Amino acid sequence: MMKKTLAIVCVLLTVAVMLSGVAGAANPVVKVATSADFPPFEYQDEKTGEFLGFDIDLMMALGKQMGMDVQFINTAWDGLIPGLLTGNYDCIISAMTITEERAKAVNFSDPYFNAGQVIVTLKTNESIKSVDDLVGKTVSVQIGTTGDLAASELKGVTVKRFNLAPDAIQEVRNGAADACIIDLAVAAEIAAEYGDIKFGEPFTEELYGIALAKNNTALLAKVNEALAALKASGEYDEIFDKWFGAK
Ligand code: ARG
Repeated sequence: MMKKTLAIVCVLLTVAVMLSGVAGAANPVVKVATSADFPPFEYQDEKTGEFLGFDIDLMMALGKQMGMDVQFINTAWDGLIPGLLTGNYDCIISAMTITEERAKAVNFSDPYFNAGQVIVTLKTNESIKSVDDLVGKTVSVQIGTTGDLAASELKGVTVKRFNLAPDAIQEVRNGAADACIIDLAVAAEIAAEYGDIKFGEPFTEELYGIALAKNNTALLAKVNEALAALKASGEYDEIFDKWFGAK
C-alpha cells in the first residue's frame, strides 16, 4: 500500500515537473529600445510606467508573429543608435526616420509609417507660415532628430536642442522659442492636449523603420516577414486605427 502511494506520488511529481518545464519554456526574447517621449508613438503611463503607443503595439504584434517575447528598454533618443551598435539591445522602434546617414550605421526594416516634419507655433503667431519665415527666428528641436537636421540646414536660424521631444514643444509654449520642428503626429497629439499651439502642413516626406545592427540580418528578415504578415492580415490596420483612426 505504502509503496503504491509512493509510486503515485512519484508519477504525479514527475508530471508536475514536466508541466512546469513546458510552461517555463519561454519564447526567445527580443530586446527593443525606444525613446518613450514621443506620444502617440511611444510613451509611458505616468503611474504604472507601462509602455504605450502605436510603435509599442506594432512591436508587440511583430513579436507575437515572430514567436518572440518583447522587452522594451527606455533609452534617450540620441543614445539609441550608439546603444544598438554596442549590442545593448536587438533593435530600435522609436518613430525613427529612415535616413541615408543612419543607414550607413544600421539596417532599417521595410518602412512601417509615413511621416513628415511640421512647424509648431503659438496659436497667436501670424508671421510663421513656412520654413522661409523662420529666418532670424529661434527654433526648438529634439537633438539629433530629422527636425534638428531641417532646422540646422536653414540659414539665419537659432536652433535650441532638447533631449526630450515634449521639452522642445514646451519651449514654444513658454515663449522662449518662436517655433518647434517636429513630426506631424506628435505635434497633433500635443496640440490637441494643450490648445494654445498650432502646426502647419508637413514640409518633409519621411518613412519610419525599425533599426537593427548591420550584422543582424537574420532578425531583419524575420521582422520584415512579420511586418508583411501583419499588413496582409489587417492587424496593422487595426493598430493604425486604434491610434490614428477617427476619434
Ligand atoms: N522621426 C524623427 C527622427 O527620426 C524623430 C523621432 C524621435 N523619436 C522619439 N521617440 N523621440 O529623427
